[in-house]
Amino acid sequence: MGKILVTGGCGYIGSHTIVDLIENGFEVISVDNNARSTTHMLTGIEKITGKKIKNYKVDLCNFDETFAIFQENTDITGIIHFAAYKAVGESVEKPLLYYENNIFSLVNLLKCVDEFKVKHFVFSSSCTVYGNPLQIPVTEQTAMQPAESPYGATKQMGEQIIQDFAKSSDCNCILLRYFNPVGAHPSIYIGELPVGKPANLVPAITQTAIGKLPQMQVFGSDYDTRDGSCLRDFIHVSDIAHAHTLSIQKMMEAGYNKACDIYNLGSGNGVTVLEAIKAFEKVSGVKLNYAIGNRRPGDVVAIYADNHYAKEELKWEVQYSIEDMMLTAWKWELFLKSDESFFKESLANLN
Ligand code: WQD
Repeated sequence: MGKILVTGGCGYIGSHTIVDLIENGFEVISVDNNARSTTHMLTGIEKITGKKIKNYKVDLCNFDETFAIFQENTDITGIIHFAAYKAVGESVEKPLLYYENNIFSLVNLLKCVDEFKVKHFVFSSSCTVYGNPLQIPVTEQTAMQPAESPYGATKQMGEQIIQDFAKSSDCNCILLRYFNPVGAHPSIYIGELPVGKPANLVPAITQTAIGKLPQMQVFGSDYDTRDGSCLRDFIHVSDIAHAHTLSIQKMMEAGYNKACDIYNLGSGNGVTVLEAIKAFEKVSGVKLNYAIGNRRPGDVVAIYADNHYAKEELKWEVQYSIEDMMLTAWKWELFLKSDESFFKESLANLN
């Protein structure tokens, strides 16, 4: 079936996708400069699959070093591109860092796709491209509003670059718009490793519950939603991972001829921040220490996915409930603190 190159393979969604690809018979290599990730995630992958994954510690902004990977691996048939910076708040403070890293790396990669005639390309996009949608649930045809952050703008630009490239090449491309990826692999050997103080909700919940954070803030409870807190579409990272495998398999089908296609990867269920906290308390048995704080600038009030297209075209089925997401996230947090954890050194470096 050919070799799949996963960029950002040591990261949260990249590592879970490598596990799913291996379990579906693919040969996989990773490229990850480990600027914001750890090769200990490859240890977790090996514990789950028994496979040692080769990682090229290369910055995709370095064209020559990126090109050399393709010279060494002329049998790459598909690429799944995760490697990017993704902290919304940081992108507002350092926009040029985000435009340089997220856009330069993508263009370098596509130049190699063109040169080495790679047939399939999957791009890690995000529901953030919708901005504050005028109607929900959003479909893949829902008009994009202005991005709420430079991070979101790099995803909108990335999609445009890939669509234009796909029209000019024989490479088939698929853009996957994730809603809110959360949780950890059921084995609890891989999961989310936030860099520094967690910006995202679920790591903030689990780190507060385990005592790494004294208290967490709920950013606003006066929104026009059923309980006043923001509404999101949480989706388990393993469900997200499997959609990447299905996307590659779809493009490998005989006669597949779409230059570029787009899929929403959300559960299709809207859950508020306060409901997510209640689900966590229910499965963990921990009463969470949180306070209601001010709204966070740039937050979308409410968004969730119409995921019918992915279900019909990719035969994608969401397997994990909000309780499963919270329970695996909690078990991962407990594992990181346990004596069995092989991430201790990584945590010291990433925090
Ligand atoms: C969710 C809700 C917060 C932390 C972003 C990106 C998206 C993706 C996921 C990369 C919001 C509230 C959070 C906290 C809180 N990124 N919250 N207290 O902003 O929906 O999405 O991250 O793949 O592309 O846009 O995710 O988890 O940061 O916030 O109340 O300590 O939780 O206000 O309403 P978000 P999030």
